[in-house]
Amino acid sequence: MSDTAKLAVGGKDTDFPVLHGSVGPDVIDIRKLYAQTGEFTYDPGFTSTASCESGLTYIDGEEGVLLHRGYPIGQLAEQSSFMEVAYLLLNGELPSKDDLSTFKNTITRHTMVHEQLATFFRGFRRDAHPMAIMCGVVGALSAFYHDSTDISDPEQRTIASHRLIAKMPTIAAMAYKYSVGQPFLYPQNDLSYTANFLRMTFGVPAEEYVVDPAVEKAMDRIFILHADHEQNASTSTVRLAGSSGANPFACIAAGIACLWGPAHGGANEAALNMLREIGTPDKIPHYIERAKDKDDPFRLMGFGHRVYKNYDPRATVMQKTVREVFKAMKVTDPVFDVALQLEEMALKDDYFVEKKLFPNVDFYSGVILSAIGFPTSMFTVLFALARTVGWVAQWNEMISDPAQKIGRPRQLYTGPTQRDYVAIDKR
Ligand code: SDX
Repeated sequence: MSDTAKLAVGGKDTDFPVLHGSVGPDVIDIRKLYAQTGEFTYDPGFTSTASCESGLTYIDGEEGVLLHRGYPIGQLAEQSSFMEVAYLLLNGELPSKDDLSTFKNTITRHTMVHEQLATFFRGFRRDAHPMAIMCGVVGALSAFYHDSTDISDPEQRTIASHRLIAKMPTIAAMAYKYSVGQPFLYPQNDLSYTANFLRMTFGVPAEEYVVDPAVEKAMDRIFILHADHEQNASTSTVRLAGSSGANPFACIAAGIACLWGPAHGGANEAALNMLREIGTPDKIPHYIERAKDKDDPFRLMGFGHRVYKNYDPRATVMQKTVREVFKAMKVTDPVFDVALQLEEMALKDDYFVEKKLFPNVDFYSGVILSAIGFPTSMFTVLFALARTVGWVAQWNEMISDPAQKIGRPRQLYTGPTQRDYVAIDKR
């Protein structure tokens, strides 16, 4: 393994250090490139650019491997819990029984939101998209909790992190309740993180709500599958916002805004809408042809990935969870058959095979969430709820990195060169 890379530019050779990670591609350290050559690299979309060093999550896109602090996502999904994965991502190691109990208790005691936060919902129309509400209300958190916004204080960073992880389910449930015109429910401290969320979402004051353990397990597993994913667009947004020292609550609101896009976290809502639009298996060939047509902006939602050029391991677990939820809830949905047949036909089509397009985390998630009772407009909210753990862990990793500095990319300028102003009567 070479430790230097030689670049011939501007008529001279310049050596740059090559840095080696614990696994995965080496990186060429080009931090001195501009100073030594007067030139920038150019990589819109960051397809070949490592923006940071991280020890949280590793993806091997060719092999379809996803590790959180070294643990494979399949093992975590089967054997762990969302709270345990949150602890793992934040602290680097799996917790002892006592540590996990203390962590869960701490999070539980931050699940209530400031009573005045409820007034922010009333400003939204009832038909507002829940992600619009999440952007607004989570952003509003930055106007509260001033005892946990000094990011130079590790203690305050920890409290802000716990508050964000704890309050997202409460705010997400409130966004849903507001959209259906039902009263907000307060969290209940004797429930698990995920059971609390399900009760606040589907319960009503008029009667007791009993959480179905099978649904709780499926929901908790879905949260695990969405917890973190290297430097995806929304995580990079949180890091860039946080690099200026911005309020942590506002940084997470920025991540929510980015996640909302249909190319990113909004794909789970778009994927189920697409499957429903296809409707029956006989329509699948038409949509596959549309997805392949360069002149047609339509893409198979829930398919393809910047990093995975193999099956997204989260989609494998998701497909298995569909069957478990259908069995537990004694329901079915013809859209699942459409999804299965669409996957089968696409994976036999040269276009998808050559471009290495496989189902991603968003392809099956909507089928499960719909079966549990969530409207499609809530799907990305659930993604944001779970990804808050990853965003917060990545933000903490960045802020506590002594080498951290404000992110400030450069550009390839192709606009007009300098010219003089012309008075309007001479134009
Ligand atoms: C998430 O980054 C993360 O880790 C994200 C995420 C996470 O956990 O944070 O995994 C969550 O965002 C998953 C992705 C959800 N998005 C979708 O399912 C939307 C549909 N997928 C595509 O929009 C696309 O695949 C992306 C955005 C996911 C990835 O796009 P890239 O890496 O920029 O790749 P690309 O657009 O350059 O596509 C490469 C080729 C193109 O064809 P050519 O121009 O080379 O001829 O594949 C084609 C694309 O047209 N292509 C598709 C396709 N996805 C890519 N063609 C049809 N259907 C698709 N879904």
